[in-house]
Amino acid sequence: MDSKRLKLVSSFLREDDVFADVGCDHGLLGQYAYEKGIRKIQLIDNKEGPLSQAKANLAPLIDKCTITFTLADGLSSLMPDINVIAICGIGGNLLVEILERDLEKAKSLARLILQPNTHIPNVRAFLSHQGFVILDEAIIKEKRKIYEIIVARFQDFTPKLSVEDCYFGPILRLKPSPVFVEKHRKRLNQITKILNKPLSQKRYHDLNQEKLMLLSEINRC
Ligand SMILES: C[S@@+](CC[C@H](N)C(=O)[O-])C[C@H]1O[C@@H](n2cnc3c(N)ncnc32)[C@H](O)[C@@H]1O
Repeated sequence: MDSKRLKLVSSFLREDDVFADVGCDHGLLGQYAYEKGIRKIQLIDNKEGPLSQAKANLAPLIDKCTITFTLADGLSSLMPDINVIAICGIGGNLLVEILERDLEKAKSLARLILQPNTHIPNVRAFLSHQGFVILDEAIIKEKRKIYEIIVARFQDFTPKLSVEDCYFGPILRLKPSPVFVEKHRKRLNQITKILNKPLSQKRYHDLNQEKLMLLSEINRC
């Protein structure tokens, strides 16, 4: 098994990180973390099945580094020396709930590497509202799906993100890649079609606002 998406996530890891993958499932990101040189890794999942799968997949690494497998909800059982976490491949609203439940722990980390599958603007809005700064971002297409990765850290006196920054990503917007343009063109076409159907006034207004934002961003690219 290989994943371009998780490889890209692992590119934000550093050799001296003490790393936890929250919602590890198969454990592939743990494998990539090891390949990046990390020697202390915690793999967390809240379900027995995926955690057993991760244990089986990473069995060859057990003697080569410190890997801890933890059956737990979100950040609740994070080992005290973990300084970098990833939460990937889950819905944005669930991701926000996980961070919200252990906000002080999340704020104490050096980096959070987040890859929400849905509701990405909500994740950025949450981070901004809570005083996290976005350090880096990436966008990638794998098997016809487009994924965004957000690297963040808590910082006092962080300027708040605009609606456009939350939607498009403050760093992704700076250098719009072909995948970035493809994603937002696709959404623009989708909205244009929906706007031709009968809609409530509120829905029409919201979609029209989104369309105007998309048009203005795409014209800038
Ligand atoms: C779709 S998989 C994604 C796996 C991997 N992170 C990836 O990006 O490919 C989501 C995993 O998160 C786990 N999960 C969901 N909610 C969780 C929570 N609150 N705490 C820990 N794990 C959770 C699920 O059991 C599942 O194994």
